[in-house]
Amino acid sequence: MTPHKDNLDIEISLLLDAIYQKHGYDFRQYSQAHIARRVNNRMLITGLKNVTEVHAKVLHDETFAAELLRDLSITVTEMFRDPEFYKSLREKVIPILKTYPFIKIWHAGCSTGEEAYSMSIILKEEGLYDRATIYATDFNQQALNRAKQGIFSNELMKEYTLNYQLSGGKESFSKYYTSSYDNVIMHQSLGKNIVWANHNLVTDSVFAEVQMIFCRNVLIYFDRNLQNKVHSLFNASLIKGGILCLGSKESLRFNNAHTTYNELDSKHKIFKKKY
Ligand SMILES: C[S@@+](CC[C@H](N)C(=O)[O-])C[C@H]1O[C@@H](n2cnc3c(N)ncnc32)[C@H](O)[C@@H]1O
Repeated sequence: MTPHKDNLDIEISLLLDAIYQKHGYDFRQYSQAHIARRVNNRMLITGLKNVTEVHAKVLHDETFAAELLRDLSITVTEMFRDPEFYKSLREKVIPILKTYPFIKIWHAGCSTGEEAYSMSIILKEEGLYDRATIYATDFNQQALNRAKQGIFSNELMKEYTLNYQLSGGKESFSKYYTSSYDNVIMHQSLGKNIVWANHNLVTDSVFAEVQMIFCRNVLIYFDRNLQNKVHSLFNASLIKGGILCLGSKESLRFNNAHTTYNELDSKHKIFKKKY
């Protein structure tokens, strides 16, 4: 127990305990700055005056609790997010994956699925799809339900098409979806080898033994201890020589896991587990 915390820290800590006890979601080791920002944002939207009022609402108002839980799980994502990263993936990682007879890839924190569909497209273009299984997991069931549907807003397609082209895409991006009113539906064949599953990185255990793990733009919300814990989980899941991909603002530098990996591309945060 740390004495002399200020009131806001105490209130937030009590709020996170309440969320865990009442709803089973453990945000107690997420970055305090992230939590404070999101709670503050919900207070502004709902006119609540302090965190203690938020606390009471979380316990007694299911709709409010669901909204706050959604706020705390940021689901912002894109297809071919950071195209240069995907370009590097095609050049440096795909040749490694080609050496395996079967490929299992885990997308941890896949949100609404854009990342997993991007991977399906790359694997198809590289002739690897038929030997691949993509495990796409998240703890946000709503996001997973949307991911499974593979329906995205038409408005996003311009940006996604550009991302795809910049990432070294080999086809016309429109080949991968069908337009329907304001939305597009990704072709069913892209989801054929994707297994969507609910998995909580904080409370659940090892998921599968895999050749590659994507965990991009998730650990950024966790404190150092929780990052270390999740990296142990990844270590236990990844085969020797396997690939770990993090987000552009994430690093292994200050982490216990850094001795386990060699950098395959330091700029794009691609690591290879040592033998
Ligand atoms: C910002 S999104 C990143 C999505 C995608 N990886 C990308 O980079 O575009 C973060 C995702 O992590 C998920 N997440 C946060 N905490 C998690 C946890 N404890 N277990 C599993 N997923 C979690 C959120 O629900 C959200 O979908």
